[in-house]
Amino acid sequence: MLDLKTTQIEAARLAKTVLAAIDSMGDKAAEHVLRHSVLRWDPPALATAFWRCIAHARPEPGQAIVEIGTFHGATAALLGLIARDLCPGVKVWTVDVNGASSLALELWRILGVRHPLDQSGNVLARLGRAEAVLGDPSWPGGGLPVAVAFVDGDHGVDAVAREWALLAPRLTPRGVVLFDDVNYSRGPGAFLRGLDGFHDEGRLGWIANGKPTEEAA
Ligand SMILES: C[S@@+](CC[C@H](N)C(=O)[O-])C[C@H]1O[C@@H](n2cnc3c(N)ncnc32)[C@H](O)[C@@H]1O
Repeated sequence: MLDLKTTQIEAARLAKTVLAAIDSMGDKAAEHVLRHSVLRWDPPALATAFWRCIAHARPEPGQAIVEIGTFHGATAALLGLIARDLCPGVKVWTVDVNGASSLALELWRILGVRHPLDQSGNVLARLGRAEAVLGDPSWPGGGLPVAVAFVDGDHGVDAVAREWALLAPRLTPRGVVLFDDVNYSRGPGAFLRGLDGFHDEGRLGWIANGKPTEEAA
């Protein structure tokens, strides 16, 4: 079990790997979008939050890490890299009403979390509205118990409430749901703060099943 300091070092290493992959695209516009629009928040801190959630949940094969809001694939890439280290064999199922962008596909190819030709890797994308896809048993990610979910789609209160209602019954005994942009102006903060066990950490907020352990404390 890693202590927080080591977790931060490991997470920062993976954040650096994602940033280096973005730089290697040699596309200034793409770099701007990915760095300033998607990863605008402190990437090592974001990676640390992901690492702690996955370390707490201890996902096993046959369970899912779910992301709502694929867009340019930066957070799915981070989740995929961390999962590869912490829970080999567990896949990241990411869904977006607009599908994964071409930047996402390129980033995943560079990082090896999703190969466009042989489909190898541990990040799987699905086009669709989260509310429909999460309950679709024909999508493997829609039928698996959820160990970790990162909710980064439609940040409105109603959408997040619906997504929470779908995710909560499927959470594993140590499952974690991490929400992005909790406190942006019309964000879901007011709804989430009304839920038992919700922790508000500023940009991010989370609810976890199971007792905290050293790595998640
Ligand atoms: C802030 S972006 C996600 C950024 C992404 N995590 C990344 O690393 O690039 C939000 C995304 O959520 C998607 N979205 C919005 N509402 C959705 C819904 N109901 N179901 C699925 N995706 C949704 C949007 O199409 C948009 O691409």
